[in-house]
Amino acid sequence: MSQSSALEFIRQAHPAPTPPDRRTAILRDPGFGRVFTDHMVTIRYTEGKGWHDAVIGPRGPIAMDPAAAVLHYSQEIFEGLKAYRTADGGAVMFRPGENARRFQKSAERLAMPSLPEDLFVAALEHLVSIDRDWIPEGDGSLYLRPFMFASEVFLGVKPSSEYLFIVIASPVGSYFKSKDSAVSVWVSQDLTRAAPGGTGAAKCGGNYAASLLAQMEAAKEGCEQVVFLDATERRWIEELGGMNIFFAFEDGSMQTPPLGGTILPGITRASIIALARDMGITVREEPYSFDQWRADAASGRLKETFACGTAAVLTPIGTVRSRDGNFTIGNGRSAAQTEKLRSTLIDIQRTRAADPHGWVHKVF
Ligand code: PLP
Ligand code: COI
Repeated sequence: MSQSSALEFIRQAHPAPTPPDRRTAILRDPGFGRVFTDHMVTIRYTEGKGWHDAVIGPRGPIAMDPAAAVLHYSQEIFEGLKAYRTADGGAVMFRPGENARRFQKSAERLAMPSLPEDLFVAALEHLVSIDRDWIPEGDGSLYLRPFMFASEVFLGVKPSSEYLFIVIASPVGSYFKSKDSAVSVWVSQDLTRAAPGGTGAAKCGGNYAASLLAQMEAAKEGCEQVVFLDATERRWIEELGGMNIFFAFEDGSMQTPPLGGTILPGITRASIIALARDMGITVREEPYSFDQWRADAASGRLKETFACGTAAVLTPIGTVRSRDGNFTIGNGRSAAQTEKLRSTLIDIQRTRAADPHGWVHKVF
């Protein structure tokens, strides 16, 4: 098969792929992240040898030694992006090069080896191509999950000398169950996600493990997501457990927390900033406090708030809850700015609109 970074992908035949009628039934309502395609990509890394043994083969369990370093010290990073079916029967991915570069930055922070961008993108292309029948029609998409973990069998605390890079794919619909209405969020005033100097800007599993207790608290309060405040002052809004956040004001301007090393530099976030600026909207990347959020919602200066990310796309936030009380944004539903940016982004991602920034990557 094709070459990438001088590495050839070996193809292993699937002995029993999912029958087409079963696949069709699954694709009717895939949910999010519970069903998977037939194949996966694996590439190994060994210190002194580099990346080797690139395989596209049947998806299945991976044998792991109980002393594999990742199971003890969580040296693991991942990415998330989507492939979409296009009207001409082809498939595209949205900005995979950005995911490749963020993966490299996450790897650097977690003392892991750098996977070349072309190898990362080639792995995605192989999987999307081989599992093309798994890309849902309509509003769905194929969520791609590249990840890498420490596989060396050793209990000393040090960077692993061996890693496994894998890509799996999951046909998905909407991340949130309440598809049309806005979601509610819980502001975590005690538990934080990331501190200055920590791993907040890296997409590592540990960040998500650290977010789960606060997410549980949010669920207990009837909220879909948790909003984290900064770890130093517990004052500034950072991001959600798995999404960035934007605020839209009555003067037409928008604001989002700056990338200070404690939040994930979202690719959706960057795309929205670019699209909003294309529309002539002023976007500030400046700190916004929880107190100000509450005051602006009450005064009516704040019109909209939305969460954004690959999984969530653009999801309006209607209600904010915290131990200090609750408040509503606007009329508690999605509003004009959110909808306009959402449809503009989705139309580009699905090749229904021109792609002025060259973000769409054709697979076939
Ligand atoms: N913030 C966190 C913590 C996330 O997990 C995600 C999702 O990947 C995002 C933000 C949004 O990033 P992106 O738009 O690249 O998906
Ligand atoms: C994504 O949007 O890709 C994420 O990783 C976030 C998670 C909530 C699924």
